[in-house]
Amino acid sequence: MTKTLFSTIKLRELTFKNRIFVSPMCQYSSQDGLPGDWHMVHLGSRAVGGAALVMVEATAVSPEGRISPWDSGIWSDIHAEAFKKITTFIKERGAVPAIQLAHAGRKASTDVPWRDDKPLGEEEGGWMPVAPSPIPFSSESPLPRKLEPQEIERLTSRFVEGARRSLNAGFEVLEIHMAHGYLLHEFLSPVSNNRRDLFGGSLDNRVRFPLEVARAVRGVWPERLPLFVRISCTDWVEGAWDLDQSITFCRMLKEEGVDLIDCSSGGMVPDAVIPAGPGFQVPFAASIRKEVGIPTGAVGVITSAVQAEQITATGQADVVLLAREMLRDPYWPLHAAKSLRVDVPWPEQYERGKPGVSG
Ligand SMILES: Cc1cc2nc3c(=O)[nH]c(=O)nc-3n(C[C@H](O)[C@H](O)[C@H](O)COP(=O)(O)O)c2cc1C
Repeated sequence: MTKTLFSTIKLRELTFKNRIFVSPMCQYSSQDGLPGDWHMVHLGSRAVGGAALVMVEATAVSPEGRISPWDSGIWSDIHAEAFKKITTFIKERGAVPAIQLAHAGRKASTDVPWRDDKPLGEEEGGWMPVAPSPIPFSSESPLPRKLEPQEIERLTSRFVEGARRSLNAGFEVLEIHMAHGYLLHEFLSPVSNNRRDLFGGSLDNRVRFPLEVARAVRGVWPERLPLFVRISCTDWVEGAWDLDQSITFCRMLKEEGVDLIDCSSGGMVPDAVIPAGPGFQVPFAASIRKEVGIPTGAVGVITSAVQAEQITATGQADVVLLAREMLRDPYWPLHAAKSLRVDVPWPEQYERGKPGVSG
């Protein structure tokens, strides 16, 4: 039986075997930004589990762009080299290796979540975060240092260098992180950006730097390979970044050659009231897909096969991205296929465990 969730999708010259993508998830398990055995096993098992795309966590384009000192990074060739083993394995499993390029902006320099992700001072191994404007994220956060225009230009080059290294490392999809209150989102939202120069004020000014990053990265990312952007479609606060601005921005991203919008939300203010529930961000993916005419990814509390099938079959989104459900079950795609009665191949090594196969 055919199901949309298990149909292929082609973006540029890359064909994905199904519509199930592993959402990027920080592991806070790197030393000096390097991926290690944990990453190999974590990402590798999700490729074994049947996802069409496995995305590496938010990976910093510069050391001070890390959320915590244990985030992964791609600011040197040594980092790119360390990812090769992982991308090779993911490809051998028939999945597409992807990486999310990020800069944490004013939300950088915090501890790991299992120690309450509190801000880390310089004496604790942290650093002074940078941002569009000197506005802290929360009452506990440090006052970030405002970026000068020439530093903004330099940061664009950091993303470009990150893209080049990602290609050398064997990645086939690049996602630029413009969501969740991190640096590029901080330029978009009037909550964190009160600049009076070319990078603040009007919508055209607020989108300038994120758009420049997309343009510059597209310039070095091969024509044949897709480029994704993750945005927060709303800050969930009155008078802040919202769906209308997101739609306008996504039209611009499409012009720049972005191939898919990964539609998330929130992360800008600590006390936003977010109506999180099953598929609560799917309407954003549906609106952007319809209004902009660009492929979208839906993410957020997508947990069942029927739900994922319904999202893709009704054209609300082209693909689904799963995060926490993939932590609960790395083999979710294989199990989803079974529950939708689709026969997908299991890894040969695991075939004897496939339901319905005896022996
Ligand atoms: C452990 C963990 C780490 C995460 N790290 C990232 C990240 O690196 N980049 C990102 O854009 N989102 C990150 N997220 C958000 C997820 O990608 C996803 O958008 C969110 O969890 C909602 O999807 P879910 O309901 O399927 O978990 C993370 C979520 C979790 C649970």
